[in-house]
Amino acid sequence: MKEESSCVIKFENVTKYYTLYHNFVGIKNFLFNLPSVIKNLKRQKFCALKNVSFEIYRKQTVGIIGKNGAGKSTILGLIAKVLKPSLGKVYVEGKVVGLLELEAGFHPDLTGYENIILNGILLGLTKSEILSKIDEIIEFSGLDGFIFQPLRTYSSGMLARLGFSVSVHIPADILLIDEVLAVGDLDFQKKCYKKIEEIKNKDKTIIFVSHDMDAITKICDRVILVKEGEIIKDGNPYEVVEYYTETS
Ligand SMILES: Nc1ncnc2c1ncn2[C@@H]1O[C@H](COP(=O)(O)OP(=O)(O)OP(=O)(O)O)[C@@H](O)[C@H]1O
Ligand SMILES: [Mg+2]
Repeated sequence: MKEESSCVIKFENVTKYYTLYHNFVGIKNFLFNLPSVIKNLKRQKFCALKNVSFEIYRKQTVGIIGKNGAGKSTILGLIAKVLKPSLGKVYVEGKVVGLLELEAGFHPDLTGYENIILNGILLGLTKSEILSKIDEIIEFSGLDGFIFQPLRTYSSGMLARLGFSVSVHIPADILLIDEVLAVGDLDFQKKCYKKIEEIKNKDKTIIFVSHDMDAITKICDRVILVKEGEIIKDGNPYEVVEYYTETS
């Protein structure tokens, strides 16, 4: 056990339901059976996480893997407090920064430059703090030619560059990375992995969600496998990845 083994994230019997609204069957049915339609709408719940418990310790780099829809982004959303658990408790200690979805937190009509400032402020920095980092962020993103263009003109790879660059330059204790690297080109991916290694060597905790098993084993010192809302393996990256690739 590392000497820095203080727990920074704790999930205690966490269950997350999403409400589904797919039971709307036609306008006639809606008008004539209104009470029962509403009752059914309310009943449609989807359980995305089922009684999940785990702890993550300071300085760990933890990979979360599993099939599409397994519940990985839901876990990150709960850590970031963008989502609330339906049951159970989520404890998080320290400042969390992360890029959960490419478009989240970005404004399409603002330029890349303005979006960096906006995001910095949303993430708790003052305007002068974010301005003092902006050159470094732009340089890392490699978007200098486009930085004064509105974001709606960016490709998804360019958005990923911008988002990743902002999130790794904001001081944080916990960094969440959800699949954003997948859309960047090879050069940018290499740069990101180097940056992640750098952050790893500082006093940070990283949660890394990816379908790239090579990246997972390269970066992480622990991997959690999620299946249909449950954690089915948690431990050594090579063992968990091997189990996942053999069983899926
Ligand atoms: N806002 C929502 N409303 C309803 N259902 C949702 C919502 N968000 C997620 N879900 C459902 O919850 C389950 C888990 O979703 P989640 O996004 O956590 O999966 P994931 O493991 O991140 O998948 P992927 O690898 O595709 O990113 C999925 O079945 C998804 O359909
Ligand atoms: Mg996801």
